[in-house]
Amino acid sequence: MAISNKVRNFMEQGSWIRKMFEEGIALKQQYGEENVFDLSLGNPVMDPPQRFYEELKKISENPIKGMHRYMPNAGLEETRAAVADSLSTETGLTFAANHIVMTCGAGGALNVVMKTLLDPGDEFVIFAPFFVEYNFYADNHGGSCKVVPPDENFLPDMDIFRASINENTRGVLINSPNNPSGVLYGDETLLEMSKIIQEKEDEFGIEIYLVSDEPYRKIIFDGIEYPHIFNYHKRSIVATSHSKDLALPGERIGYIAVNPDCPDVEEILDGLVFCNRTLGFVNAPALIQYLVAHLQGTTIDVGVYEKKRDYLYKALTDMGYSLIKPQGAFYMFPKSPTEDDVQFTEELKGNRVLVVPGRGFGLPGYFRISYCLDDATIEGSLSGLGKAISAYK
Ligand SMILES: Cc1ncc(COP(=O)(O)O)c(C=O)c1O
Repeated sequence: MAISNKVRNFMEQGSWIRKMFEEGIALKQQYGEENVFDLSLGNPVMDPPQRFYEELKKISENPIKGMHRYMPNAGLEETRAAVADSLSTETGLTFAANHIVMTCGAGGALNVVMKTLLDPGDEFVIFAPFFVEYNFYADNHGGSCKVVPPDENFLPDMDIFRASINENTRGVLINSPNNPSGVLYGDETLLEMSKIIQEKEDEFGIEIYLVSDEPYRKIIFDGIEYPHIFNYHKRSIVATSHSKDLALPGERIGYIAVNPDCPDVEEILDGLVFCNRTLGFVNAPALIQYLVAHLQGTTIDVGVYEKKRDYLYKALTDMGYSLIKPQGAFYMFPKSPTEDDVQFTEELKGNRVLVVPGRGFGLPGYFRISYCLDDATIEGSLSGLGKAISAYK
């Protein structure tokens, strides 16, 4: 056997999105590219903002001596200072460059945070529906995830959350706005969560870190203000990236920000920098760090996603789908008209529409639609989405 049983099992559990991707290729070969509507991938079709290309041009015309060399493992001072300034303005707290570690995307950031915090047997509490990689990331570092189910609005079931924390809990990991539901955790939710965390810290005499995975933080709609976790729990850490807000997922650029008021903040930062190095990332890619230092105030046009959300939400509800209106990110998570979400995704596939079954996000009975796509793909998918639900009426 070439690979471990564990990895073999994980590959089966985590293969829904890839499976849809491969089936999409086969369908496209059969019916032609323009006749298959692939709503399964969260890979934005949008290009980065014009400002990104201006910065790229500037640096290519005026290269900085030594810019491609190794650097401090935490990243470029200039970039970390720019991130810190921007976070200070957003949150009202005082961030300095040394509260920031530049990372290879949010995925890299989460692995660095988990490696820094987890001892073997430790746990992170996560909330369904969740980004499937969380379980694998925790396992990478000898830990595991305990899953809390949602209420009917995709917010945490607080009683189960309270009961999920035990003496092995090291972290609570949230993702808002959420992939796959698009739901944003508001002030009330964060307040209740932080009270429960505090209560359990006292009960067990432990320290629990609230970790926020927020690559969609800047993609929020309806004029909502983003509630930053730093204001709710002192032991708080943000893991994020510019994969979505600057449409740069292939460039692998993100960062970790530690609450300046976090107890033991220096020790944590030393740990994070060490883990960024020893996980083999060494440092985040250099060239892109030089660019994002000048792009902290720049975001893709969020209005484009908001329009797509409005269009698709109306179309789906008119067809009879039951779904919560997303407040951010670029996904929707409608209820499957039949309990078996895999059966329904097969029905959609028969109508040449590809989506991901909810069980790929720890919540069977739903399915995920990505709408970070061009309008033609979204519009083209409506006929198949309509036919599929009609089959269950
Ligand atoms: C919730 C969530 N977290 C983390 C990531 C990883 O992002 P990155 O590309 O920055 O590693 C993604 C990517 O889709 C995501 O949806």
